[in-house]
Amino acid sequence: MKRIIIAITTLLFFSSASKSLNPMLTRSVLEALQNERAAAARYEAFAVRATEEGYPGAAALFHAEARAELVHAARFENFLKSRGVDVPAADTPAATVSSTSNNLRTAIDAEQRERDSTYLKAYNDAKLVGDEEVIKLFDVIRDAETEHLNLDTAANRDLSKMKQAHHYYVCAKCGYTTDLDLPFCASCRGHEMERFE
Ligand SMILES: [Fe+2]
Ligand SMILES: [Fe+2]
Repeated sequence: MKRIIIAITTLLFFSSASKSLNPMLTRSVLEALQNERAAAARYEAFAVRATEEGYPGAAALFHAEARAELVHAARFENFLKSRGVDVPAADTPAATVSSTSNNLRTAIDAEQRERDSTYLKAYNDAKLVGDEEVIKLFDVIRDAETEHLNLDTAANRDLSKMKQAHHYYVCAKCGYTTDLDLPFCASCRGHEMERFE
């Protein structure tokens, strides 16, 4: 009986210990965390400029995107901690701000890079390693970045429309962003959609 109790205790201990993270994936998630923190700061600065230039619609979009990037940063941070990785303090450089038209182009470039390059590579690396949690993390977050790219592209296509108020909605769970007033998140099915205007 004593042996059985020791065996069960040992099993419980090892099953609750955090699974270590592959070094290549550790680098990818740490870089993604810094990237999301920088993007959030950049979008808040872009929102201020959009308001100054008389584009409340673009300001709402940038506020929504900033919130989404913070949701992503929190997800990356929590994940790293769950795998026993030390998370560096936020050290975000001041954003370079231009006209709203140029800022939208900057946003488009950044979102496209995440969708087609950095986050896609991280997703494929996670598949090679076979780490299901990292696969899901980058899969869900790439969904949100793709929507950011679509929304930024639409705003930039006809910037004059951004002189009117627009509403955007961000999922507090996964950061999915949309201009549709949905009862739940189209990406993760969560029910915590926050509104930005
Ligand atoms: Fe984004
Ligand atoms: Fe979601």
